[in-house]
Amino acid sequence: MSIIVQEEKGLFHLQSSGMSYLIQIVDGYPVHVYWGATLKHRATMNELLIHTSPGTGLDRLPQEYPQYGSGDFRNPAYQVELEDGTRVTELKYDSYRLLKGKPELDGLPAVYVENESEADTLELVLRDGYSGLQVVLLYSIFAERNVIVRSARLINQGKQKIRLLRALSTSVDMFGHDNMEMMYLSGAWAREGNIQRRSLLQGEIRIDSKRGMSSHQFNPFAALVTPETSENHGEAYGFSLVYSGGFEAVAEVDSFGCTRLGIGVNSFDFAWLLHAGEQFQTPEAVMVYSAQGLGEMSRTYHRLYRNRLCRGKYRDQERPILVNNWEATYFDFSADKLVAIAEEGSRLGIELFVLDDGWFGKRDADNSSLGDWYEDRRKLPDGLADVAKRINGLGMQFGLWFEPEMISPDSELYRQHPDWCLHVRGRRRSEARWQLVLDYTRPEVRDYIYESLAEIFSTVPVAYVKWDMNRALTEIGSAALPPERQAETAHRYVLGLYELLERITSQFPDILFESCSSGGGRFDPGMLYYMPQTWTSDNTDAVERLKIQYGTSLVYPVSTIGAHVSAVPNHQVGRNTPLDFRGSVAMSGNFGYELDLTQFTNEEKDTVQRQVASYKQVRGLVQQGDLYRLQSPFEGNGSSWMFVSADKTEALVYAFQVMAVPNAPQRILRLNGLDPELEYTVEREGGGESSLYGGDRLMQLGLPLSYEPKDYQSRCFRLQAIQ
Ligand code: DGJ
Repeated sequence: MSIIVQEEKGLFHLQSSGMSYLIQIVDGYPVHVYWGATLKHRATMNELLIHTSPGTGLDRLPQEYPQYGSGDFRNPAYQVELEDGTRVTELKYDSYRLLKGKPELDGLPAVYVENESEADTLELVLRDGYSGLQVVLLYSIFAERNVIVRSARLINQGKQKIRLLRALSTSVDMFGHDNMEMMYLSGAWAREGNIQRRSLLQGEIRIDSKRGMSSHQFNPFAALVTPETSENHGEAYGFSLVYSGGFEAVAEVDSFGCTRLGIGVNSFDFAWLLHAGEQFQTPEAVMVYSAQGLGEMSRTYHRLYRNRLCRGKYRDQERPILVNNWEATYFDFSADKLVAIAEEGSRLGIELFVLDDGWFGKRDADNSSLGDWYEDRRKLPDGLADVAKRINGLGMQFGLWFEPEMISPDSELYRQHPDWCLHVRGRRRSEARWQLVLDYTRPEVRDYIYESLAEIFSTVPVAYVKWDMNRALTEIGSAALPPERQAETAHRYVLGLYELLERITSQFPDILFESCSSGGGRFDPGMLYYMPQTWTSDNTDAVERLKIQYGTSLVYPVSTIGAHVSAVPNHQVGRNTPLDFRGSVAMSGNFGYELDLTQFTNEEKDTVQRQVASYKQVRGLVQQGDLYRLQSPFEGNGSSWMFVSADKTEALVYAFQVMAVPNAPQRILRLNGLDPELEYTVEREGGGESSLYGGDRLMQLGLPLSYEPKDYQSRCFRLQAIQ
């Protein structure tokens, strides 16, 4: 059992193989005592409480789910408004329950176990006697992972209405650490995944999304680290929210040097009405502890998200290499043009052809037809099924793009149902990319979309779906909700989306789904529960991608990171990079092409054929192996990383140099994650040479690395242990 309870001391000790988390009930308050490397549990464990006590005020007490109104002046984890208009509550410990395994969360994505022995769960029940508000804090701890998953269930056990004004998933008070730093991922469209690191001083740093989606601007993730923490050393505490809507993550340092980190659904513009007997379940926060730096924190997230968040047939399967027609044709294509690209792709070994935007309604540009999910016979005279069959006839699978959450004002759907979009009566409907957002809080809207997609899936052999979402939510209101529930719209939208995704993905388990939101606008764990891969960014430039993919890997496994080779000059930045370089960057992710293969020279086609064949050999390792980041593109001209198999007998190294270096110094790349006891053959891809090195030598002394004196150089090495 990984949860030890000492009832007489009010002590709860949650333990994984390398981590302890301690809670103590003090004067009825659940107090946060410790989170870090494993503490051996001893019978004498009673002095763990910090020097402060409630007598000195709640403001000095580290807490597990802090309240507002009785003397703690920091950010609370929750707040409610009672029918009498008051907003003060005080939760006191009531009881606890232990469960084997980890419960599912009704209607919400969540990490899971396949066997009850993988995790244990503690439910701490707290009550506010005056209002009848009950809060159940859920803690699941995995036996073999340094992961603790937290969420809260707020239940109205009183007789009167309770309005939630705020309900975060977790809040942790890290005391005794007065010089922590906060890390997070920031960005914008085509600039996702920037790693930020800021010192925390008295005051707070807040990242959030008010966009109704997790957003390009900030990913729903934050980490607390010490100033010494680096890629391979030092402590890191990660907080990742399994949610796809607006969120907040706030780190606050109080006047006593305690750092409080809270993460959850954004409390800005949020309220939720609970009638007597009703309950609200927050999304869950996945908290990871690493004593070996950021690299180990990331690998802990990768292993968990790859195997216990992603689901379905493709979770453990090698993903198909695809060619997508978006940057090849945009909206301007015919059936024959698509088949011509596919023909070339199939000759080169590509396995899946994806028909992107523009195949439905009357969509010649991005200003119409979203919602009209039926084929455009002007472009596809013999229909979609015919194109799909022709592509299948080439030995390739067929994939299709949808943007199911949207409606164009210029669409048949909008003409029939002008109230089906999110809107606020009497106000303008702000268009973005000429489109509005469907009101997914409404079951009839979701049913219409389900039927439209299901109809296509039953008549066209669709093996893959790209589920896109190209704008943020505005005028967030629903014609179907009463006035007192309008502030629930944004969260209800996400719950509606999850309900539809569950229905579609379970009804069509053989389809591989990839989520997308103008690239990485909704690259979050919530979406990964339904769709095991994401289009990482609309920026396909290989140099830009070094940073975007590196940053994204701070939390997300490589199997989820879609990466395509595109044409040069690059469509986003105009840069010309060699095909080898573009290939190596894209092969470091979930690989594909997004260009017109029919325009390639024979030499370029040979290169593609080589890349495709090579990726087929290594993709198991790339997609399922452990990622070790070696050199950060955020820090200089060189970047490198490697993938290592679980048994450490195989590895793959990619190294990149962006700009040529004249009269370059001797470079040595120190590898990581290998077995120091093993010997490895090291073969340079395309280099023909093969050498034998000890794992210890490769990690201590390193691997000699040289580039040609040209811009945009890459190197790839394959390592195989000698048994
Ligand atoms: C945005 C996506 O990120 C692109 O890949 C492409 O599918 C376009 N939408 C199509 O409109």
